[in-house]
Amino acid sequence: MKKYQFPTDFLWGGATAANQIEGGFYEGNKGLNIADVLPGGKERYDILLNPGFDFEIHQDQYYPNHEAIDFYHRYKEDIALFAEMGFKAFRMSIAWTRIFPNGDELEANEEGLAFYDRVFDELHKHGIEPVVTISHYEMPLHLVKEYGGWRNRQVVTFFERYVREIFNRYKDKVKYWMTFNEINSSLLMPIQGLGFSIQKEEDKYQPTFQAYHHQFVASAIAVKACHEIIPDSKIGCMILFAPVYSFDSNPENVNYALQEERLFNYFCGDVQVRGEYPAFIKRYFKEHNIQLDIQDGDLEVLKEGTVDYIGFSYYMSRTDKLGKAEGESSQGNIIGGIKNPFLKASDWGWEIDPIGLRISLNKLYDRYEKPLFVVENGLGAYDKVEEDGSINDDYRIDYLREHIKAMGEAIEDGVELIGYTSWGCIDMVSMSTGEFSKRYGYIYVDKHDDGSGTLARKKKKSFFWYKDVIAANGGKL
Ligand code: BG6
Repeated sequence: MKKYQFPTDFLWGGATAANQIEGGFYEGNKGLNIADVLPGGKERYDILLNPGFDFEIHQDQYYPNHEAIDFYHRYKEDIALFAEMGFKAFRMSIAWTRIFPNGDELEANEEGLAFYDRVFDELHKHGIEPVVTISHYEMPLHLVKEYGGWRNRQVVTFFERYVREIFNRYKDKVKYWMTFNEINSSLLMPIQGLGFSIQKEEDKYQPTFQAYHHQFVASAIAVKACHEIIPDSKIGCMILFAPVYSFDSNPENVNYALQEERLFNYFCGDVQVRGEYPAFIKRYFKEHNIQLDIQDGDLEVLKEGTVDYIGFSYYMSRTDKLGKAEGESSQGNIIGGIKNPFLKASDWGWEIDPIGLRISLNKLYDRYEKPLFVVENGLGAYDKVEEDGSINDDYRIDYLREHIKAMGEAIEDGVELIGYTSWGCIDMVSMSTGEFSKRYGYIYVDKHDDGSGTLARKKKKSFFWYKDVIAANGGKL
């Protein structure tokens, strides 16, 4: 055991997203969003990765996000449980469709605004700092269907209207913001982040990177507006960070890993943190015949709208080599690669690599020298409720302990780390598979893959463990 020194004002807490917890998908005048048309079950991940999704609701399918875990009605009970654990921060997102149900209205929806007022007030009542993601895979469906998602420049204007509305409304209640959740994940799966599905015959490069350009401009506009409207706030980007290891010391593979890491892990961050397109992406654009439509003033906006901190999710590393054979692929590792013989994997095949978190923190800090915030990390696992009602999730405690130790080590390495909000502090709908059985929480929710369950909440063993970690500010681990 070693005693770790975390900063005294370290933001310990948990993370969620509106579409994965709220439910109430038609209540309070909410409009439909992308998550509302994603069915449950393992086929969801195939939909996310493959071309040709129709964005329709089909009567014969089950849509788990519609009710989710009913946070919309149970937020008081849930926030009280977070407070009991001693949370300093709670990461959540605002559903754009509660504020602008279709996305292109001129007037905001008061019922939606009032809901988040109630949630923020409840958090403050318990001394918990809200950390708010502005867009977490929940773009209004109307913008997808009528405008083609982020391919369409007009969406930048709608997004600006949305962010100005929420900054003005919540300026006294929310001081930590992030623009787009896991912005780089759209390089793998554009549906949720960019709001369109590649059609089979369509070349993916041009529309994807044009949509990215619009999103970068929108993000920079949001950063500028946030600084102007809430001068004492901090606004960050949010990246899915998965360090890429070369499979071996063959320079061909080392170079391959480096180039893959730059494209996937650094491209978006470089634009949002440094305010300009990095040199390596310009070569990539040339090689893939991508010509961005950049309007007058866009590059200045990118320069002026750089973020204050880097929020990132960390679940796994990726090990890779040039020209891997089909059978070598790492089964289930969501960001691909080949199997790393030194790592174990979760029940869903995500490789577990706590040292990779220390490596990621060091890499990000070396590159950007800005405060870092681990806004997602956790273990999706099957939990068993014992006959006496207890849930003994020691595997989750082991996972979290090793990752928290890795953060402690990185702090000793000199990294400036402001907080840790582990993913899914309460069980919820899985983003990639739509399952409830993929559980991350300290709090168990009685809800199952077929939609059954009482929605009752129950404390797991990890609840008490995390409470002690927070009380000791990390302490001996
Ligand atoms: C991140 C997302 O990629 O991973 C979350 O930001 C998601 O929305 C989390 O829930 C865990 O992924 P999953 O697929 O296990 O829910």
